Amino acid sequence: MQDTPDDVIVGEATSLVPATEEHLPLLTDWFADPEFVRNWGGRPLTRAEVAAKYTGRRRPAVVSLLVLKGVAPVGYAQYVPAGPRDGGIDMALLPHAQGQGLGPDAARALVRHLHAVMGWDRVTVDPEASNHRAIRAWTKAGFRPVGPQGSRLLMECRPSPSSA
Ligand SMILES: CC(C)(COP(=O)(O)OP(=O)(O)OC[C@H]1O[C@@H](n2cnc3c(N)ncnc32)[C@H](O)[C@@H]1OP(=O)(O)O)[C@@H](O)C(=O)NCCC(=O)NCCS
Repeated sequence: MQDTPDDVIVGEATSLVPATEEHLPLLTDWFADPEFVRNWGGRPLTRAEVAAKYTGRRRPAVVSLLVLKGVAPVGYAQYVPAGPRDGGIDMALLPHAQGQGLGPDAARALVRHLHAVMGWDRVTVDPEASNHRAIRAWTKAGFRPVGPQGSRLLMECRPSPSSA
């Protein structure tokens, strides 16, 4: 059996790998699709915008990831530090990959990584308050509502030592 590379974040049903230049054609297709960006700013993006924002590292230290189911890319995720021990995550799955519990699985794996490897003790996510599916998914992943932030609901997860 092959060892898992260090930069792979492993969940039960999903894994997350760094999004790099090699994924630019794939991500360009995804972010050009109005359905994919419906809960991600709402506006389809150009290849140049995707290259600048979603492949590799960008200021302020956003880390871009592909969500995989097996070897198949099924979504995009990122994390953004806010302070030395906390920050936020965002995620969008392809329509065909939604509704199977993959989002919460990837979120749990990412939270575990941010806690155990990055040393974070607070992870936030801020879905639109009207995005009931996302709120349900993040609740399943261990996030709790903090309160409204404009049109969004701020949610947080404070991983405990036992969850590392
Ligand atoms: C949000 C997202 C990552 C969740 O991942 P997922 O794998 O689809 O989540 P799940 O399969 O666990 O399903 C979500 C839950 O919401 C429920 N749900 C679906 N539609 C719902 C609705 N309209 N209202 C309330 N709950 C809803 C599902 O029943 C499921 O709960 P259950 O397991 O208790 O039945 C994914 O759906 C996605 O990428 N959506 C589009 C982009 C997006 O909204 N990103 C989040 C931005 S913060």
